[in-house]
Amino acid sequence: MRIGVLNGGGDCPGLNAVIRAVVRKGEGVHGDQIVGFRHGWRGVVEGETLELTIADSRGLIQRGGTILGTSRTNPFQTPDGVARVLDTLREERIDALIAIGGEDTLGVAARLGDESGFPIVGVPKTIDNDLAATDFTFGFHTAVQIATDAIDRLRTTAESHDRVMVVEVMGRHAGWIATYAGIAGGADIVLVPEQPFDIAEICAEIELRHRHGANFSIVVVAEGAVPKEGTLTLQSREEDEFGHVRLGGISNVVQEEIGRRTGFETRVTILGHVLRGGTPTAYDRVLATRFGIAAIDAVHEGTFGVMVALHGVRIDLVSLGDAVRELKTVDLGLLDVARVFFG
Ligand code: F6P
Repeated sequence: MRIGVLNGGGDCPGLNAVIRAVVRKGEGVHGDQIVGFRHGWRGVVEGETLELTIADSRGLIQRGGTILGTSRTNPFQTPDGVARVLDTLREERIDALIAIGGEDTLGVAARLGDESGFPIVGVPKTIDNDLAATDFTFGFHTAVQIATDAIDRLRTTAESHDRVMVVEVMGRHAGWIATYAGIAGGADIVLVPEQPFDIAEICAEIELRHRHGANFSIVVVAEGAVPKEGTLTLQSREEDEFGHVRLGGISNVVQEEIGRRTGFETRVTILGHVLRGGTPTAYDRVLATRFGIAAIDAVHEGTFGVMVALHGVRIDLVSLGDAVRELKTVDLGLLDVARVFFG
């Protein structure tokens, strides 16, 4: 078979491990030809390809980023986008497509599969871990580890200077990274999109903690955290092709307010894209490899319109349409675990 592979949306550690697994099993076991599309859906719209062979995919398991490049192109928003996608797939004689992505890239895959009948298998990817149909996406574990290491480092400097450290992590709709890294790093406050915060309450908690003898505090803020209505004003931002505003910077507002209201010296660190960079953790390498193998297996079983998913320790196939229908927000019980250690 000639099998196309693309990854779209934000890059994340483990993408190359998926590509390597698809190529190794596709070419090595089935004699497939694997055709990579450059820069997500943009490469399919524009016919930008890269032949992938076992020789090219050696050494990829530990490499961060993606050798294919990525973009946030949405063919449904591009003039003739879908027609051009189908033309390219025909011209390149692609028999099936493996699309690696989050809600946006896989949303396009699901709609394209439904409307055109093209055989597609999805692989869930996002450091945000916010896809409902899978227990975990690869990239998340690496991002949590990077954030935890950063919190550990910020703690020693915070202690030395008697400071409040505000640490911002990614997490657009869901605060999984903030919550996991907050628990692992022993954060004193965690702010997530799921629970709008009241800055006055946050300041009161920090003041109480310091009255009880603490000389520093660590506040972890997910970039998508929002203040309770009427408590703070935020600036509006530009949107991408999927209608998402560019986030990043809420922690500056939080830092300023904490400093002004409590009088404690406060600093901010925005980890942002650092969380998406570098080598994947062993966990993410294994998960990405298992996802890649399950995707190529699904193609050879002729099962399409599905996404590979982790359920417990098993890899299953779930409906692609269902997988992108709803986002997975943080389990409030997990936030309660984090809260035990606040104050
Ligand atoms: O891929 C998801 C994500 O990492 C979000 O957490 C974040 O809001 C967004 O990507 C940032 O995207 P960009 O790389 O386009 O700035």
